[in-house]
Amino acid sequence: MKALLEVLAPGSEERTLAGAIDPKRLPAHVAIIMDGNGRWAKRRNLPRAAGHKAGIDAVRETVETCARLGLKALTLYAFSVENWKRPRTEVDTLWRLLRIYLRRELPVLLKHNVRLSAIGRLGGLPDSVRQELLAAVESTAAKTGLRVNLAINYGGRAELVDAVNALLAEARAAGTLGSLCLDEDLIASHLYTAGVPDPDLLIRTSGEMRVSNFLLWQIAYAEIYVTDTLWPDFRRIDLLRAILDYQKRDRRFGGIKAGAGLKAALPVAQP
Ligand code: FPP
Repeated sequence: MKALLEVLAPGSEERTLAGAIDPKRLPAHVAIIMDGNGRWAKRRNLPRAAGHKAGIDAVRETVETCARLGLKALTLYAFSVENWKRPRTEVDTLWRLLRIYLRRELPVLLKHNVRLSAIGRLGGLPDSVRQELLAAVESTAAKTGLRVNLAINYGGRAELVDAVNALLAEARAAGTLGSLCLDEDLIASHLYTAGVPDPDLLIRTSGEMRVSNFLLWQIAYAEIYVTDTLWPDFRRIDLLRAILDYQKRDRRFGGIKAGAGLKAALPVAQP
């Protein structure tokens, strides 16, 4: 948090918003559905690729802000298993931009102590993209700050299928298939995000009210924040607004508000 305050101009709106954030109640993990690149480009009579290219600047600023805030994890939805339905030229552009991002941003990620990781069916990526991605992941492996998960060729349902298949394969190999009994911890420990706390805050840009097959298991109790801002326009100030909004929420996780349970805590007559 201190690292963020020191780069914000005194008296600026960003500085005021950041000053209003309670550093003790920051979301540990923010997940973002980066939507609206195509519409951003269309509004400017530009090709869709220009929207994706501009989206990289928003990625850079968001990663840096989360690192400066001291968050534990940021997960960015960069390419879904369904995005293969897009024209080949657009898919190729996305791979090209990912490689540009990795080459250009790696020094910045290292400087901010960011540990990069990739989640999704990485085996389905073009070889050169996968190799470059895994090399970038490897070169940040010892970093201990913000964990940035890039969700690539990712689908929430695919992740659950992969987790269950991995569990079945392990049990088969161990000869324990007959007695295998699944529980929530076992499934969670076989997800791509194993070991990372579930997202507290899910942000979607461009005003769409959908979760689009993103982190279906992990967002069970995430607070959802939708902004009309298109992803390429998403800046530090938008992230600060989302976090402030998150801090106003009353998170009950299926329970009741603290202090409101006096009556409810009295023994209830059983039928
Ligand atoms: C959704 O907008 C965005 C994507 C499918 C791709 C996101 C990619 C980037 C932000 C750039 C590269 C990312 C990284 C991590 C380097 P859309 O195309 O569906 O927009 P639309 O709904 O307005 O058409």
